Amino acid sequence: MLELSNVNISYGSINAVHNVSMQVKDGEIVSLIGANGAGKTTILHTITGLKKATSGTISYNGVDLQKTEASKIVTHGIAHVPEGRHIFPDMTVAENLEMGAYCRKRKREEIQDAITEVFERFPRLKERKKQLAGTLSGGEQQMLAVGRALMSKPKILLMDEPSMGLSPLLVKEIFSIVKEVHKQGITVLLVEQNAKMALAIADRAYVLETGRIAMSGDAKDLLKDEKVKQAYLGL
Ligand SMILES: Nc1ncnc2c1ncn2[C@@H]1O[C@H](COP(=O)(O)OP(=O)(O)OP(=O)(O)O)[C@@H](O)[C@H]1O
Ligand SMILES: [Mg+2]
Repeated sequence: MLELSNVNISYGSINAVHNVSMQVKDGEIVSLIGANGAGKTTILHTITGLKKATSGTISYNGVDLQKTEASKIVTHGIAHVPEGRHIFPDMTVAENLEMGAYCRKRKREEIQDAITEVFERFPRLKERKKQLAGTLSGGEQQMLAVGRALMSKPKILLMDEPSMGLSPLLVKEIFSIVKEVHKQGITVLLVEQNAKMALAIADRAYVLETGRIAMSGDAKDLLKDEKVKQAYLGL
């Protein structure tokens, strides 16, 4: 289980995240929804060690992530699909995937097996394995970002706005990929502004408003909640 307790995160004197407590249990899809600037990315960066919390605790299966070096966090089974994808544009699709395995110091054959698995899941990436990643379409780049995260064989996948900038059809495709990944046993923490889709596929969700958890609960209940409907679903 991933657990945040009373986490505060600041940028200089500005407190961006206030007393956030949340949990993601093994096997769940949990969505964290909220508007621009609510603090969603900040929370993910703090889980993955890119940023330090000013107070509170973050643990994954009993391991204190605040005391774990950022480069070691992936070895505990946590993978991050960053906001804006951050693929390496001048490397090929295959090279980008290899980078995803790099931190875990795998053997050559293990990396090859992992690449084969990603290509089975994303045939479109296989067709383009020698193509420079910067020339992929937005949707293909998102698939590559997910594929690269899967290369580390994670137990939990943290995804930061995977639907951003994609057409409605591709958004559907990306969400079905999330479901597929989850079906194969990977826990998912999904950060999204697309609240409708994020709530539709999640078991539970947290609503973040200016750095505070404003609401949380069963995703299906939140989808029906009048306040959520007005603020996040445009209904
Ligand atoms: N490096 C930084 N230095 C100073 N302030 C920052 C920094 N990064 C983020 N912030 C501030 O922290 C707050 C939360 O930002 P964050 O990026 O976590 O929001 P978000 O919920 O991911 O938003 P979006 O949906 O637009 O991606 C914002 O007010 C933002 O301006
Ligand atoms: Mg963000």
